[in-house]
Amino acid sequence: MKNILVTGAVGQIGSELVEKLREKYGNNSVIAAGHKTQPTEGMRKAGPFEFVNILDKEALEKFIVKYNIGTFYHMSSILSAVGEQKPQLAFQVNILGLYNVLEIGLKYKLEKIIIPSSIAVFGPETPRDNTPNETILLPTTMYGITKVTGELLGNYYFRRFGLDVRGLRLPGIISYKTLPGGGTTDYAVEIYYEAIKHKKYTCFVRENTVLPMMYMPDCVKAIIDLADVPLSKLKHHTDFNVTAMSFSAGELADSIKEIIPEFTCEYKPDFRQAIADSWPKSLDDSAAREEWGWKPEYDLPKMTKDMIEKLSPKLKA
Ligand code: SER
Repeated sequence: MKNILVTGAVGQIGSELVEKLREKYGNNSVIAAGHKTQPTEGMRKAGPFEFVNILDKEALEKFIVKYNIGTFYHMSSILSAVGEQKPQLAFQVNILGLYNVLEIGLKYKLEKIIIPSSIAVFGPETPRDNTPNETILLPTTMYGITKVTGELLGNYYFRRFGLDVRGLRLPGIISYKTLPGGGTTDYAVEIYYEAIKHKKYTCFVRENTVLPMMYMPDCVKAIIDLADVPLSKLKHHTDFNVTAMSFSAGELADSIKEIIPEFTCEYKPDFRQAIADSWPKSLDDSAAREEWGWKPEYDLPKMTKDMIEKLSPKLKA
């Protein structure tokens, strides 16, 4: 079997995806690639790690040859909030970087490329409740524009060249191992850290802001399950809606209060409110359920319990 490459390996999702893939395929079969941030000692010791710039196509090609890569999990991306502050950078990393990955996929006949998409592909004109898989994609953020482009290009490379590109529209992802960086849904992670450390949090979206969300174990499972399903089962390729739960910022705070009764939350919306308001409240993910058996395990109470249990010792240490 050829090896697996994960870019964005030091990021929120990448770091946990690498761990799971190494458990499944063996430490040395999974090559972790970061951009600038140092990996944890655990990641570096467990298996191969290298720095690579997704915009440096030549370096990336050398990497593919050196490690005999067959499957490429392309996790590096600029998220929505940073993307609004640095739209040119988001365009370069998310579109030019992705184009490099697709072209390398063709040149080196990669077996499979997995590129996550996002709920950011939707926009204000999209129906916001139980948003269908096939619907209006008119995002207002640069991040969303790059993700729609990624979906369309991935589907094009599959139809036109037979390159097996797969992707799923991830909602807000909540986790306790690695912090997210620069997304609109980051409040749903920060709130747990602040609740444990200071018993209070100032949330940057309104109390009644509802978004689709997912706990990291479900997210990693979704990505690997989609990658593993036989190609013949897929009718969609790069654009599966996936969700696990939807809640308002207020409901999230209430679920934490059940365990930490002294916790208080204030709401001071900033520029990220407009981004959140342009995204769906809930998603219809029946295509993912039908085509590759998607089924999440965690709901809000179960996730909150686990987050607080896992984070408390870590933050006290
Ligand atoms: N979590 C991402 C963001 O907020 C959504 O894909 O940017």
